Amino acid sequence: MNVDNFRLELGGKEYVPIIIGGMGVNISTTELAVAAAKLGGIGHISDAIVSYVCDRIFNTSFVSRKRKKYAQYSNNPDKSAVLFDLEEVAAAQKKYIEYTMGKKTGPGSIFLNCMEKLTMNSGIETLKVRLTSAMDAGIDGLTLAAGLNLRTLDLIKDHSRFRDVKIGIIISSVRALAIFLKRAVRLDRLPDYIIVEGPLAGGHLGFGPGDWQTFDLKTIFTEVLAFLKKEELNIPVIPAGGIFTGTDAVDYLKMGAKGVQVATRFTISKEAGLPAEVKQNYINAKEEDIVVNMASTTGYPMRMLTSSPTLRYAIRPNCEGLGYLLENGGKCTYIDEYYAALEERKTGEPLVIKEKTCLCTGMANYDCWTCGHTTYRLKETTNRLANGKWQLPRAEDIFLDYQFSTDHTIRLPEQEVT
Ligand SMILES: Cc1cc2nc3c(=O)[nH]c(=O)nc-3n(C[C@H](O)[C@H](O)[C@H](O)COP(=O)(O)O)c2cc1C
Repeated sequence: MNVDNFRLELGGKEYVPIIIGGMGVNISTTELAVAAAKLGGIGHISDAIVSYVCDRIFNTSFVSRKRKKYAQYSNNPDKSAVLFDLEEVAAAQKKYIEYTMGKKTGPGSIFLNCMEKLTMNSGIETLKVRLTSAMDAGIDGLTLAAGLNLRTLDLIKDHSRFRDVKIGIIISSVRALAIFLKRAVRLDRLPDYIIVEGPLAGGHLGFGPGDWQTFDLKTIFTEVLAFLKKEELNIPVIPAGGIFTGTDAVDYLKMGAKGVQVATRFTISKEAGLPAEVKQNYINAKEEDIVVNMASTTGYPMRMLTSSPTLRYAIRPNCEGLGYLLENGGKCTYIDEYYAALEERKTGEPLVIKEKTCLCTGMANYDCWTCGHTTYRLKETTNRLANGKWQLPRAEDIFLDYQFSTDHTIRLPEQEVT
């Protein structure tokens, strides 16, 4: 039995039950999402730091315009006045999503991963613009992630696509699910799918800093299924985190999952946005090189390679141009630590920042090498080239391996000649 024996049904449409998870900032690129859709699955793009992503792809100037406007705050720890222009947020979002949707072919879909923890110094207003612009631009689905807000559905309830766009949530506990569903029931707009993300995933984890090791995906997934059964709710449940082979996926599909969300295997695909050299670092990583730390300013634990350059940052905060992680009121724990370190530094000593990192800059520059727990196994999935480097597989190779492999085998991509 393989993944191809199953189908995911969403809103009357059938998919190969493989979803490539959102990976900000621009690791899950347009090209990666398009590849999944072409093969009949679902691909995600992410709107994390989309103004910067637009500038890179389209040569626009969203970031420099904002940086210029707020230049006088660059040496000021008080960033409360550094606000996004909502029209600019909408313009960047539409440009990126229209571009992506314009490239889509095949029977699958493209969804947007929307992390609500990107509070952008005005959480609710910016979130509303992000979601409505995405729907205006024709996105097939919205996956609400990281920091789910109970008011989110209210923000978009008057949009003409509110009932037709697919809406999903990522949760890591029955408790979070139950809270979200209460509001959804009142609006008569249940999510179309529920992604249950366990502690082996990449990016931020939906667990506490000290307790993520005590959870496992299978248990949470089973609890979610039982909860939905008790509530007589028929919503597809999609596990994520550590599903490394097609056979891992089949195990969940047999248990009642309607699809799986995967990401780590695709980080090294040709289509993923990480620079080629960084992809080599991912493949070469050993298990001990992968850690969960609290360097993110969001307050959530995050998994990354210990060699991530961002962990050695001592740079001035970049909120004037970026500022995606500013909490309402312009706060960010990196700003606090940076200015405290500046004050404490003795003359002639280098500036050292130990606890937090400037995540906006780190993610935008591909200096924060976030990854899933199974990253150390990526070397099992590809070939060594004659020049000693690893071959980067195509997204299609990885997708088809998930779809058709059996017995935990991994079909290697056809050997590339260098
Ligand atoms: C490099 C990387 C970046 C990620 N970034 C995000 C993100 O921006 N938002 C999000 O909701 N999940 C993010 N994730 C989580 C994935 O979407 C996915 O749910 C999870 O990693 C699946 O587990 P796997 O990587 O073990 O296959 C990220 C994962 C990776 C590997």
